[in-house]
Order: sequence, then C-alpha cells, then structure tokens
Amino acid sequence: MNFNLRSKLPHVGTTIFTKMTMLANEQQALNLSQGFPDFETDPKLVQQVSAAMEKGHNQYAPMIGAQLLRETIARQYKEIYAVEIDATEELTVTSGGTQAIFTAIATIVRPQDEVIIFEPAYDCYGPTVELFGGKVVPVRLLAPDFQIDWDYVATLINENTRFMIINNPNNPTGKVLGKEELGRLADLLEGTDILLLSDEVYEHIVFDGASPQSVLRIPQLRERSFVVASFGKLLHTTGWKIGYCIAPAAFMREFRKVHQFNVFSVNTPMQFAIAAYLNDITYVKGLAAFFERKRNLLKDGLQQSRFKVLPSEGTYFLNLDYSAITQEKEFEFACLLTIQHKIATIPLSAFYKEPTDQQVLRVCFAKQDDTLLKAIRILNNI
Ligand SMILES: Cc1ncc(COP(=O)(O)O)c(C=O)c1O
Repeated sequence: MNFNLRSKLPHVGTTIFTKMTMLANEQQALNLSQGFPDFETDPKLVQQVSAAMEKGHNQYAPMIGAQLLRETIARQYKEIYAVEIDATEELTVTSGGTQAIFTAIATIVRPQDEVIIFEPAYDCYGPTVELFGGKVVPVRLLAPDFQIDWDYVATLINENTRFMIINNPNNPTGKVLGKEELGRLADLLEGTDILLLSDEVYEHIVFDGASPQSVLRIPQLRERSFVVASFGKLLHTTGWKIGYCIAPAAFMREFRKVHQFNVFSVNTPMQFAIAAYLNDITYVKGLAAFFERKRNLLKDGLQQSRFKVLPSEGTYFLNLDYSAITQEKEFEFACLLTIQHKIATIPLSAFYKEPTDQQVLRVCFAKQDDTLLKAIRILNNI
C-alpha cells in the first residue's frame, strides 16, 4: 500500500539543537550549544519530589495544575511585581514552556491569520503557527544590537494580524525589552484586537541591575496577553518540563479547552515539590546574580580572544562575533569548532527563517565554572 502521507510541516527537519548536541557527543566536545545547565539541580528540590511521591501525590493532578503550585506562583507575582493573579481563573500549569506556547497558538490561530514574530526567534514559534494554518510574518533583527524598528513593525499590521510573539528576555540575542520598549509595543497594539504571546521563560535572569519586565505589569498589554514561563529555566530542571501560562480568564477558558485534550494534566509530584521549594522567594531573587557572575566569567575571559562578545542583558546566552577570524558561514564554522576544537555552539542563522550569515555563534553559559574556564581556554586559542 502506498500511503499518501502529506507532511504538515514539510520544511521542518531535526532541530539544530539536537544536531549540535549529537555532534558534540560524537566528538566528545564541550557542549555550549543547547540551553541546559551542566550542574546539579538543588538536592533539596530533588528531595521534595521524593517526599511528594512518598506522601502519595502520584495520581493525576487537576487539569489546571495543583492548587498549591498555582497559589505559590500567584504569590510570587504579588511579591515581586505587586501584580494580582487569579490562581483559579487565570493560570494553568503546563508541560514546560513549549506546551504552553503550542497551546496558546492552537487556541488562537486559524488558517490565514498572520502572526508577527521577531527573529532571531526560538524555534517552536513558526512551525506551530504553520501547523494551525497561520502565516508567519517575520521581523528580522540583526546583530550586533538587534534593535526593533517599531515604525516598521506598524507597517506589517493589517486586518489579518491576529497574534504577535515576543520573547523577553530574548533567546538567542540576550536582549531585554525594558519599560520604554514595552510602552512602544503597548502604543502600537492600542485600538487593535491583536493578541500577544509573551514568552518570559528567562524572566528573572536579567543583569546589571535591571528588574524583570513581565508584560503582566502593563495593564494595556496584560489584557491581550498569554504569558509563558518555565520552571526548567528557573530551577535548573530542563528535563522536568513544567511551566505555566497566565492569561485573562476568558482567554484561559479557551486555552484550557485545548490543554485538556492535549496533555490533560502535568506530572503531580514535581508540582508539589516546586510549590514547596518556591515557598521561599529568596531563591528567585538570587537567580540573576547567579547567572550574571557566570556571564561575566565567560565575557571577561574572552576579552583577549579574536571573538567579539556581543552584549547579553539577560538569559543565559552570549553571542560571539567571529568575523575577525574567518568569513566562513555560521553552520560550517560551528561544525568546524566542534570537530577540530571540541567545542559546540549554535549558529545564529538557525533562529531565522530565511538564511542569514552574520558570523555569529550563540553559546550557553548555564555551565559549571570549570566548563566555562575550559571553553575560555579553547576559544582563546582560535
Ligand atoms: C525562549 C524559549 N522559550 C521556550 C522554551 C521552552 O521551555 P521548556 O523547556 O520549558 O519547554 C525555551 C527553552 O529553551 C526557550 O529558550
């Protein structure tokens, strides 16, 4: 039988993250490519998972998430931003940030809807929009400053524009949209019925004295936004795949209709463990300093190298401009570094739909100091 399997995503292959990690493993290279920590999760948090299992939290959690966790999250927003979240009506625990993004897009996007996406962009946005028949309208931002021209963005808006996706702080650029930029965005969307997906998975990781800028703090944006967060990034537990989405109650009701037939509910013991662990807010408040020290270690260590370090205002990524070394294309140079110099990175071009080549590679600094020092030694010799 010859089945006529027509791909719904004909242009999508294996992601660059999987490819580079496979190559790094094969080459036994230092892996600064994929965004995950190589240090241990806090044993106290791990113990909380065992404790939750022993207490019998082993069956389905409520569809919207364990109440204790939802209340803990809402309390955090209150303490950190003085923002009130209704933990019953406005918040759903999801299987990581990715599922929250998928579900928000599935909830909103219909065939022919246009979705404005800022590039370089995290890889799941575009394909998910396309899966639901939407059309991606990219806004290309370029190194070194990745500045948004809001007047240009305004020209892209038409009656089909349904959704806009921002990621703040941004992976891969390390840029943070501050109050002023978010104000520009609010002005731009004022009077339109365009909804906003604000991917805030690196929310608390902002440097140099900046304070986190959730769109939940801006009422004109909050009323039109799905906000996405991830405990994988917050707690150094990317393998647990737990996150959440916050949206106005009417949006959240629709979101949950999709969520309940997509995952239904998220694994129970981890939810109780995270709730217990985050009972103390000081952890979250210390996260920025923890990563800022690592950023500085890597950045300062590369001062004498031939790589130019682009600014990183947040997240746990740095971008390295290698144009002083070679004009080789990013993918080829990233492969060469992995095979010959035993260090894996991600070509920035992987985050654009149409090919770009800016001679920039992204590295992840959520790594042990020892790993970063080894990376510095390698990169300084190139
Ligand atoms: C910008 C961005 N959004 C979403 C995610 C996905 O988060 P999760 O691993 O919780 O699905 C990531 C993970 O790397 C990310 O960098």
